[in-house]
Amino acid sequence: MSETILKVSGVSKRFGGLQALSDVGITILKGQVYGLIGPNGAGKTTFFNVLTGLYTPDSGSFELGGKPYQPTAVHEVAKAGIARTFQNIRLFAEMTALENVMVGRHVRTRSGLIGAVFRTAGFKAEEAAIAARAQELLDYVGIGRFAGYKARTLSYGDQRRLEIARALATDPKLIALDEPAAGMNASEKIVLRELIDQIRKDGRTILLIEHDVKLVMGLCDRLTVLDYGKQIAEGTAAEVQKNPKVIEAYLGAEHKTA
Ligand SMILES: Nc1ncnc2c1ncn2[C@@H]1O[C@H](COP(=O)(O)OP(=O)(O)O)[C@@H](O)[C@H]1O
Ligand SMILES: [Mg+2]
Repeated sequence: MSETILKVSGVSKRFGGLQALSDVGITILKGQVYGLIGPNGAGKTTFFNVLTGLYTPDSGSFELGGKPYQPTAVHEVAKAGIARTFQNIRLFAEMTALENVMVGRHVRTRSGLIGAVFRTAGFKAEEAAIAARAQELLDYVGIGRFAGYKARTLSYGDQRRLEIARALATDPKLIALDEPAAGMNASEKIVLRELIDQIRKDGRTILLIEHDVKLVMGLCDRLTVLDYGKQIAEGTAAEVQKNPKVIEAYLGAEHKTA
């Protein structure tokens, strides 16, 4: 049996009259790519926001690497070992690609962000090593040649890959990707799939939100399907795909947007 990385149970979250999440739970084992799918508005991003300390849940319990953790503050979550990307890209637009990744890395360094701001001696000593590691990560996600470019000048697809590099810089136990393929064209999606596969092969554990079912089916070891905040299916891709509730949720969603 593989080691459990993340165990979440009983997560509920209400916004006024809207029950965005009802009693959602997932268990992710080390080395898995775990998919969280569902139509728009199903509650996927809300689940990520709860998991990473942006929203306070009404209920829920959380374990990371076998230890309970409270996702109460974003920096505590990063320290505990969860890194994420955002559906709406959040980069430092005027900083270079390299600097964006270096910021991610400072979560893990002794002098930390305070040292970075005040440029302490300890910070300077670490900086060269951090820059070298950041460059490695940019190369790894395939955008090494843009290290010196301002983040805002990169293409949409490259900005998404930069976010992944920044998340990897914290050396996370779990990396959570919120619709990394959104806005990408078909060939960019193929490259992204290969990158996610590579990240897994390199020993990381991944939680992947995607609403494009086709994209995740070949990639995910297991999936949870959300619809209107409820977990309507859980299992392997093959199991989930033939679940009538899932088919209905997706057909219903297509019908609504058509
Ligand atoms: N901060 C918020 N305040 C009020 N409603 C919200 C908030 N965030 C999300 N919601 C609502 O919760 C539901 C789930 O949204 P979301 O988690 O973004 O869905 P998904 O990521 O699956 O598309 C939607 O109806 C959305 O409008
Ligand atoms: Mg979303």
